[in-house]
Amino acid sequence: MKMHETATVVKAVRLSEGIYDIEVECKSAGEARPGQFAMIYPASKDTLLGRPISICEVKEGIIRFVFRVVGKGTKEFSELKAGDSVRIIAPLGNGYDTNAYKGKKVTVMGGGIGIPPMLELAKDLNKKGCEVTAVMGYRDNALFLNEDLEKYAKLYIATEDGSVGTKGNVLDAVKANAIKSDIICACGPMPMLRAIKQYAKENNITAYISLEERMACGVGACLGCVCKTTEKDAHSHVNNARVCTEGPVFNAEDVEI
Ligand SMILES: Cc1cc2nc3c(=O)[nH]c(=O)nc-3n(C[C@H](O)[C@H](O)[C@H](O)COP(=O)(O)OP(=O)(O)OC[C@H]3O[C@@H](n4cnc5c(N)ncnc54)[C@H](O)[C@@H]3O)c2cc1C
Ligand code: FES
Repeated sequence: MKMHETATVVKAVRLSEGIYDIEVECKSAGEARPGQFAMIYPASKDTLLGRPISICEVKEGIIRFVFRVVGKGTKEFSELKAGDSVRIIAPLGNGYDTNAYKGKKVTVMGGGIGIPPMLELAKDLNKKGCEVTAVMGYRDNALFLNEDLEKYAKLYIATEDGSVGTKGNVLDAVKANAIKSDIICACGPMPMLRAIKQYAKENNITAYISLEERMACGVGACLGCVCKTTEKDAHSHVNNARVCTEGPVFNAEDVEI
């Protein structure tokens, strides 16, 4: 059972309109893998539950999170400054099994706030000798994490308004640039993940997708985050999996989305 810990904010910056970047010093940093997440707890009494936020990058003793302000919890996190304490549980979830992708041509795809977990993933894949391509989808020219991603991957950008890169979504950029992959790893809004699942099936590519379900406990106890699986769970005999513990990363073929 993972324990809560008190992390210390060492850096807090605004990356673009509504997008914030915080780095926290914590004991659990050494255990974190790409694709895992943390539950971050707001201090305010009227926001009891933790907020799941992906691990964006791991440095010596430090975890970096990049998030969009959506409601009360993320608004509070956006006001954190260096020296503040914040309660977290990390790392949580399964993450990507990058050892299994060694030597492969891997395309990481992120849409909107699904972009942050792709940074640590690209970094790790690059270290493991994969040929890494990153395709990131933004609304407009308010880009974030693009310069970090360029250090580890050949980067292509898609924007909804066409202001940077390919006009459209990540798959439009894949097609426009004739990007070939053995494996796709993706995180983003559900319509994007559905389209990637379909594209991967048609092109005989293995796709791993990271699901962003609403979560209450984040540690497998409340069943608030279940998704539908194609196969029955051998233990419980139901077509369900908890996104917070069996996920958030699934082989796209194994989940009904
Ligand atoms: C595994 C995982 C990783 C995530 N990683 C990131 C990330 O790296 N960056 C980022 O900006 N966002 C990420 N999200 C989404 C983020 O958790 C929500 O935006 C955040 O919880 C909103 O909290 P709030 O208090 O600001 O909003 P409110 O709308 O006030 O939240 C109310 C409740 O709903 C939950 N909730 C609301 N939206 C979501 C959502 N999309 N997903 C899950 N729970 C939600 C909150 O946790 C809270 O319990 C992730 C979600 C999951 C499940
Ligand atoms: S959030 Fe409670 S079981 Fe997943």
